[in-house]
Amino acid sequence: MMSAPQSDRNPEIKFKQIFINNEWCDSVSGKTFATVNPCTGENICDVQEGDKADIDKAVAAARKAFKLGSEWRKMDASKRGKLMHKLADLLERDISYLASLETIDNGKPFQDSVEDIHFTADSIRYYAGWSDKNMGKTIPSDGDLFSFTKHQPIGVCGQIIPWNYPLMMIGWKFGPALACGNTIVLKPAEQTPLTALYCASLVKEAGFPPGVVNVVPGYGPTAGAALAEHMDVDKVAFTGSTEVGKLVMQAAGRSNLKRVSLELGGKSPLIIFEDADLDTAAYWAHAAIMNNHGQNCCAGSRTFVQDTVYDEFVKKCVTFAENRCVGDPFDDMTQQGPQVDETQMNRILSYVESGKTEGAKLEFGGSRQGDKGYFVQPTVFSNVTDEMKIAKEEIFGPVQTLIKFSTMDEVLERANNTTYGLAAGVITKDINTALMAAQGLEAGSVWVNCYDYVVPQAPFGGFKQSGQGRELGEYALKEYTEVKTVSIMIPEKNS
Ligand code: NAI
Ligand code: MG
Repeated sequence: MMSAPQSDRNPEIKFKQIFINNEWCDSVSGKTFATVNPCTGENICDVQEGDKADIDKAVAAARKAFKLGSEWRKMDASKRGKLMHKLADLLERDISYLASLETIDNGKPFQDSVEDIHFTADSIRYYAGWSDKNMGKTIPSDGDLFSFTKHQPIGVCGQIIPWNYPLMMIGWKFGPALACGNTIVLKPAEQTPLTALYCASLVKEAGFPPGVVNVVPGYGPTAGAALAEHMDVDKVAFTGSTEVGKLVMQAAGRSNLKRVSLELGGKSPLIIFEDADLDTAAYWAHAAIMNNHGQNCCAGSRTFVQDTVYDEFVKKCVTFAENRCVGDPFDDMTQQGPQVDETQMNRILSYVESGKTEGAKLEFGGSRQGDKGYFVQPTVFSNVTDEMKIAKEEIFGPVQTLIKFSTMDEVLERANNTTYGLAAGVITKDINTALMAAQGLEAGSVWVNCYDYVVPQAPFGGFKQSGQGRELGEYALKEYTEVKTVSIMIPEKNS
């Protein structure tokens, strides 16, 4: 049994450079950028700022590692799995350090960082098991043909990830890419580059050949766009805003038609039916929006509550918000730290203003907390209607919107009346109600009597403008595989 991870609010920063070919290097331009501790607003350190020239170097390294006859291409699939298991073990060996680093860079409570790192390791282990099980088929072809399919890696994969789950997104992205035998150029978010760089050092320690994984920190419109546009990148996987997801898809379309998978935003409904146990339902509704400070693509950001229990439910939600412990993410009691940066904090506060202006009732919170760092009070709005901005747009903050409904048909139509379709939830004791809702909701994940319960084994992704493709589970292997048909003529005398 491992001892409980110990936090350190001043972890030594070991890696600030670009990682290419298992080596550390400075940016070609010589530029650096600051990464900030959102708890204090102070700079943690300066990191080398990758740009197009650095992306070119990283892609060349990833291409070389992918060449036929290279160590990586010749490696037994089961050996890839062993390296991945080793990487997962190293992530957990260094969990105290990594969780501390995640918490100073992102602001999430230390215990949440610890859980994220376990999930990262579990995702990599799950895919390690798939590495020698990604099997093709034999095909009953017409004619004198013996046909079979081979599942081959796509090639060089660009992976662009956001700041809300910096390490966990690496687990979801590296897992299937490496299991299928691809090579990677990762661009972490500019707000949170530190754990990605330390993870790169663990990739090297685990024994992956040079060039299989490369990490280039930098900004989106420069380093990120260079990956999406690159003529020698075979696939790009992106997690972030729908707006940038569209840019990534356009870049793929006007460059080399690289494969694209997208994990984008949401405005996910959570529906509370009148027969639910209201205390349990209020717990889930609170967790659905407040977890990770509301910075969650599948956050339950529209809470539909049946009219007969609406007033009582509002009171329960306010009590949960009142009792939420906001503050120092290194304090064991803390449930909510700061938002990731000043931009996000101001964006959330402007949504709160629009909610008030458009006539929603502010039941609790609604302001910045303190004057240092980027803390936002847990906020509850009642009397929210469908056309308000706070009911339509992704706020990405701790802002609960409570909306009233009366019937099943009505609520399904209203829940689906959005450009998004990432997730949804239903709280009810009636199996028929649950089944009808699960059938009718347009969302990639539907949770019944729980919310945001994501596991490595089951796919996750969006309908409509919430994305393309799926991450996690067996389904994600498809996003990192090219299918090749091999057809062999059988001589006639044998038939
Ligand atoms: P973003 O979509 O701009 O950033 C996500 C990643 O994309 C980062 O690594 C960024 O550097 C990169 N990027 C930005 N512009 C790019 C471009 N032109 N080409 C290639 N890569 C690019 O998200 P941002 O600005 O941090 O947050 C804005 C809003 O997006 C949030 O308020 C939230 O609503 C949403 N968001 C959703 C996330 C999700 O998990 N679905 C994660 C982060 C943000
Ligand atoms: Mg942006």
